[in-house]
Amino acid sequence: MNNENNIKIFEETDLKTIEKSMQNFTSQMQLYQAVIKEVKTKLEILNDEFNFNHKHNPIHHIESRLKSPQSIVEKMRRKGVSLDIDTLKRELNDVAGIRVICKYVEDVYSIAEMLTSQSDVKLICTRDYIRNPKDNGYRSLHIVVEVPIFLANRVENVRCEVQLRTIAMDFWASLEHKLKYKTDSQIPEDIKIRLKECAEAIAYIDSEMEQIHKELS
Ligand code: GTP
Ligand code: MG
Repeated sequence: MNNENNIKIFEETDLKTIEKSMQNFTSQMQLYQAVIKEVKTKLEILNDEFNFNHKHNPIHHIESRLKSPQSIVEKMRRKGVSLDIDTLKRELNDVAGIRVICKYVEDVYSIAEMLTSQSDVKLICTRDYIRNPKDNGYRSLHIVVEVPIFLANRVENVRCEVQLRTIAMDFWASLEHKLKYKTDSQIPEDIKIRLKECAEAIAYIDSEMEQIHKELS
C-alpha cells in the first residue's frame, strides 16, 4: 500500500463509527462467552446429579470454543448476509460452541433431554447425526439452544450450539477432521470408503460397550 492510499483511508473513515461497531461486537461476543459459561454449568450440575443418583458420570468431558471474528466474517460472507449484529444473532447459531463427550450413546440422549427440558432453555433446532449419520460416517447429536443471560439492566436470549457425542464418535470425528485439513486436494474415493468403514466399526464397538455396561450395572 502506498502513502497516498494510507492517507485516503484515514480521510474517509469515521473513527467514531468504527469505535461504536467494535464496542457492539465486543459486547455481543461477551454474551456468547456468557452463554458458554451458563450451559457448561448446567451440564456439570446434571452430570453431578446423575452420578449421585445412578453412580455413573454420563459426561466424560466438555470442550468449548468461541468462534473467531475471522471465522464469523468468513461464514457471513459465505452466506451472503449483511455484516451487522442483528444478522449475526439471527444467522449464526454456532458462535458459542460446546462439545459434550459422553461415555455411551444412551448418555448423549439423556443429557440432551435433561438440558432441553429445563424451563429457561429453549430448543431452537436438533440435527441427529447418530440416528441419521452423514454420508461420510459422521455421528453426533447437534442441538442449538437459546438461554437467557441476565445483565445489569436487561436480559438477552443467546444461542449456543451443543454437539453431543460418545468418546468413540469423538475419536473418529477428531481424526477425520485433521485428515481433511491435511490434504489440500479432495480425499480419494477409496479413502472415503475406508473412513466410513472405520465409523461403522466404531459404532459397532460403541453399542457393544454400552451393552456390556448395561449387563454389568
Ligand atoms: P457449519 O457451517 O460448519 O456450522 O455447518 P452446518 O451449519 O451445516 O452444521 P452441521 O450440523 O452440518 O455441522 C456443524 C459442525 O459439526 C461442524 O462445524 C463440525 O464441528 C461438525 N461436523 C459436521 N460434519 C462433520 C464431519 O463430516 N466431520 C467432522 N469431523 N465434523 C463434522
Ligand atoms: Mg460450525
